[in-house]
Amino acid sequence: MAPSELDSPEDAARLRQQALDHLWVHTRQWTELAEPGGLLILERAEGVRLYDIEGREYIDAMSGLWVVNAGHGRKELAEAAFEQMQKLAYINTFAYASVPAIKLAAKLAEIAPGDLSHVFFVNSGSEAVETAFKMARQYHHLNGEPKRYKFIYRRGSYHGQTFGAMTVNGARYLDRTYFEPLVPGGVAVINIDSYRYPERMTYEEYNLYCAQAVAEAIEQEGPNTVAAVIAEPISTSAGVHVPLPVYWQKLREICDRYGVLLIADEVINGFGRTGRWFGIEHFGVVPDIMTVAKGLGSGYVPVAAAVATPKVFDRFKGERRHAFQHGITFGSHPVATAVALKNLELMEREGLVERAAEIGRYLGSRLNALKEHPIVGDVRGIGLLWAVELVRDRRTKERFTEADNIGGRLTPKLLKRGILTRAGEIIQIAPPLVIEKADIDRIVEALDEAIGELEREIL
Ligand SMILES: Cc1ncc(COP(=O)(O)O)c(C=O)c1O
Repeated sequence: MAPSELDSPEDAARLRQQALDHLWVHTRQWTELAEPGGLLILERAEGVRLYDIEGREYIDAMSGLWVVNAGHGRKELAEAAFEQMQKLAYINTFAYASVPAIKLAAKLAEIAPGDLSHVFFVNSGSEAVETAFKMARQYHHLNGEPKRYKFIYRRGSYHGQTFGAMTVNGARYLDRTYFEPLVPGGVAVINIDSYRYPERMTYEEYNLYCAQAVAEAIEQEGPNTVAAVIAEPISTSAGVHVPLPVYWQKLREICDRYGVLLIADEVINGFGRTGRWFGIEHFGVVPDIMTVAKGLGSGYVPVAAAVATPKVFDRFKGERRHAFQHGITFGSHPVATAVALKNLELMEREGLVERAAEIGRYLGSRLNALKEHPIVGDVRGIGLLWAVELVRDRRTKERFTEADNIGGRLTPKLLKRGILTRAGEIIQIAPPLVIEKADIDRIVEALDEAIGELEREIL
């Protein structure tokens, strides 16, 4: 691991001040960052461990933001970047192709479900979603249906922060009101909730009911106005509720019935996170477009893509003006694609996808033991994508309120015990795919203690 570059506590203090003066930290309130201990500054990492500028050690229990699937400190990925930078750092991506971009596209076509095989590279998940939307809109235009502009999404889902992606953001933790009016066409429907579905239904009936809500929304909006349905195979932001295969199969059927494209947002689910290469594989369905990002480059480079089937891609063939009217300077960047290719090679060689499935079962069984705590309402997940839901009353599943400030209370308790993750009423646990059992034990023990402490404070 690289040594620290900071020599003294004064260096650390200076850096902290510079951060407050100049670095606009995403989504955070400056006044909170300015409080003592308000901003964690990380400097080095190895495997599943991160180190801050004061040398304290943490376990990365959320792989950054569900990104670092291959684990930190992979020399092989750094070398791939170094080599590619020397060979060819950049080309005009609007006109030409580079060797690593071609190889990565072919690799993605090989591992992607079904006939998903045409890869449009971009830099981030939001851009991938934006790309999928433009793809869907132009596809319908070229199909002679220019009025299809609407996108159906699920409440609680998260698809990114650019304007198009924001239109389909059902997650409540970022406020969209400052940016209204949004791009028109977002239509929200019910999401899957495996914990709080109506008692009068079986889980299967409920899954069908949720899928049926998509059909009803399409009917209500007018089928010839709907471009696509977008959904994460397993929505992390909605709380990691795992649907039944029948849900996705029904979505596929509904989209086919109404000529609507189906977009699977694999930005978090993809690249082994759920114990398969892609989350959608659990459900036996092939979407028309799949968006990928995060784990594609394991965080070593920003790289993302929208991957389409021939049904979509072939529609763009023909006249010059039918070419996809979309291009991003750093999309299919030679260095980013070279590193992502090496990342997939490494994941395959080390069997990390299978490992996520196997060690994920161990994580699940350890997390399930937390149910001994009266405030642990539910533990759910798959592979290395898990959520622990805290409730005020387990019998009634009553939620905590904002005033209970669960996140504000729990986060420092976990931090003190060397665990980095997103913790509120829902605690997310999604470590790098290289995690060992001993580190899973450490995460669960820290959770056990922190939840116990929280209980003593609030019950
Ligand atoms: C499912 C999903 N889609 C899209 C995005 C947006 O990705 P990015 O933050 O890379 O723009 C995210 C980010 O967390 C995501 O979880």
